[in-house]
Amino acid sequence: MMNINSDQKTGAISRRAVLKGGALLAASAAFGRVGWASAKGQISIPQVRLNNGVMMPALGFGTYGLTGDVCAESVADAITAGYRLIDTAKVYRNEEAVGAGIKKSGIDRKSLFVTSKIWVEDSGYEPAKRAFQTTLDKLQLEYLDLYLIHRPRGDVKGSWQAMEELNAAGKIKAIGLSNFDQAQLASLTAGATTKPVINQLETHPFLQQAGQFDSLHAAGVQMEAWSPFAEGRNGLFTNPVLEQIGKKHGKTVAQTVLRWHHQRGVIAIPRSSNPDHRRENLAIFDFSLSSEDMHKISALDENKSQFPEWT
Ligand SMILES: NC(=O)c1ccc[n+]([C@@H]2O[C@H](COP(=O)([O-])OP(=O)(O)OC[C@H]3O[C@@H](n4cnc5c(N)ncnc54)[C@H](OP(=O)(O)O)[C@@H]3O)[C@@H](O)[C@H]2O)c1
Repeated sequence: MMNINSDQKTGAISRRAVLKGGALLAASAAFGRVGWASAKGQISIPQVRLNNGVMMPALGFGTYGLTGDVCAESVADAITAGYRLIDTAKVYRNEEAVGAGIKKSGIDRKSLFVTSKIWVEDSGYEPAKRAFQTTLDKLQLEYLDLYLIHRPRGDVKGSWQAMEELNAAGKIKAIGLSNFDQAQLASLTAGATTKPVINQLETHPFLQQAGQFDSLHAAGVQMEAWSPFAEGRNGLFTNPVLEQIGKKHGKTVAQTVLRWHHQRGVIAIPRSSNPDHRRENLAIFDFSLSSEDMHKISALDENKSQFPEWT
C-alpha cells in the first residue's frame, strides 16, 4: 500500500505533500482507483471522495459555450470517449442540449456525474428551488450529482438552505460553490448544517490560487478548476515551458496542464468541441510529472485572472 500524505476522509491532497515529491503517488492514491467507469477501449478516470462520501470523477467535460446540436453531439461523444463528469449551468443556456447528449449516449444514468449551477437571478430560497426543478426538467434527469451556487451574489444563504433541503431529499447528491473567496465561503457556512463539497474556481498555470487551495484543503473542500486551460489565453498552448515538459513525456501541452491539475489534487473540466482534443485530454493517467516539472509549472503563476471581464 502506498504511503501517502492525503486526507483519507475527504480525498483531498496536501499541496505541500505533492510539491515535496512523490506527486504521482500522492495524486493517484488520494484520488483513488475506485469506481472505474469505463467500457472496453475507454480510458478509465480515477475518482475523488468528496467530504460527504460521494465519489466524483477526477476529470470531467466542460460545456460552456457549447450549444444546440454541437453541444448535444459533443456531450454524447465525450461520454462515448469515457468522460463521466459533465459540467453545465443554467447561464450556459445549454442544459436541454446537455440532456439530449446524455440521452443520445445511451449511458446508464447512475454511471454519470452531472453538475449544474444556480445563477445569480435565482438566488434565494424559493427561486433556488424553482430554478433547480427547471434545470432538472431541461436536463431530463431525476436528480443532480452536484449543484453549485455559481457566484457569491444575492441571497446565497437562502439558496443554500434550499440546496440543503434538496440534498437531504436525495434530489442532489452533493452541494457546493463556485467563485467564492475564503471570507465568502466562511460567511455562507457559518450556521449552515451542510459543508460545501466543492469550490469551483478559475485556476490554471497562470492563476494557481495556492492560498485558496490550502484553505480549501484545510476545510476538507475539494478545489475544481474552471477554465483549466485559461481558454488558451496568454499563449497557454504555445508556452515554451509547458511545451518542453510535454515533449519530454511525449505529451501535448494540454495533457501536461491537465496532468499538473491532477497531481495538484484539483479536478479539471476541460471543454472541447473537437473529438480528437476530447480524447487527447483524457490520456493523462499513463504518465507522471516529476517534482522538477511541477516546480517549473508553479513558476508560471502570474497570480492574475485571465478573465478580467468576468470580475
Ligand atoms: N464556474 C464558473 O464560473 C465557470 C466559468 C468558466 C467555465 N466554467 C466551466 O469550466 C469549463 C472549462 O472552461 P472553459 O470552457 O472556459 O475553457 P478551457 O477548458 O480552459 O479551454 C477551452 C479551450 O481549449 C481548447 N482546447 C481544449 N482541448 C484542447 C487540446 N487538447 N488542444 C488544444 N486546444 C484545446 C478548446 O478548443 P477546441 O474546442 O478547438 O478543442 C477551447 O478553445 C467550462 O466549459 C465550464 O463548464 C465554469
